[in-house]
Amino acid sequence: MRLKTIVLIILCLLLGVGFVVWKSQTADAPSFRPESNKTTPAAVKPKPFDKTMYSLTNPASVWVIANKQHPLGPKEYVPADLVVPNVSLRVPGNESMQLRQVAAGALETMFSAAKSDGIAMTLSSGYRSYTYQVNLYNGYVASQGQVAADTQSARPGFSEHQTGLAVDVEPSDRTCEVEACFGGTPAGVWVKAHAYEYGFIIRYPTGKEDITGYEPEPWHLRYIGKDLAFELNRTGVTTLEEFFGISGGKSYVD
Ligand code: DAL
Ligand code: ZN
Repeated sequence: MRLKTIVLIILCLLLGVGFVVWKSQTADAPSFRPESNKTTPAAVKPKPFDKTMYSLTNPASVWVIANKQHPLGPKEYVPADLVVPNVSLRVPGNESMQLRQVAAGALETMFSAAKSDGIAMTLSSGYRSYTYQVNLYNGYVASQGQVAADTQSARPGFSEHQTGLAVDVEPSDRTCEVEACFGGTPAGVWVKAHAYEYGFIIRYPTGKEDITGYEPEPWHLRYIGKDLAFELNRTGVTTLEEFFGISGGKSYVD
């Protein structure tokens, strides 16, 4: 009987000590009071997009705007970091198979993603020097006349292709190669939906001819970086001119 009492007392003591230790350990632990009892922190305001992050006029800026009202800059401008992207190339070895490093990497990632979705694409035209654009533009003028040429090809010194940040893409089977019907091909539909995820935009969209100065070019993508591409996608603004309030249009600056 005495032994039972002693065991009982020891057990009670152990339980008591255990309780005290447990209480002291949980004293600082977060309480699980209902939400309504908590003080609400001040709502975190999303930062407004900084439109001044990069230059719009420096030809080496990823945000540079070249249009009929804004020539690219010195005609001899050549990007310093041209590389040949590791993708399917329409004209291997040609000058136009180069891109600025940042655009080349983005194109490689984008083409890989398209391939995973069952769409094979090829680089049709990337960097074009001033002299290259002279020959291209003159070819358009010779075959269609200057008025029609000006709706499709930039005059030398006014083309984004000279930045090394513009890419013409095409389906690897060459369906609708550099033609309006490209927009309806699986590749055209894919780039329209996904290009921004890789930092590209369709630079000459349908319905914005009076702003961009060119007929729609669903194959002509422009690398602007993910920050701006996501912001344009979020806001639904489709041209750089509208987003930055920069003049464009169908006529050339005098
Ligand atoms: N086709 C576009 C406008 C260019 O020549 O740069
Ligand atoms: Zn182009």
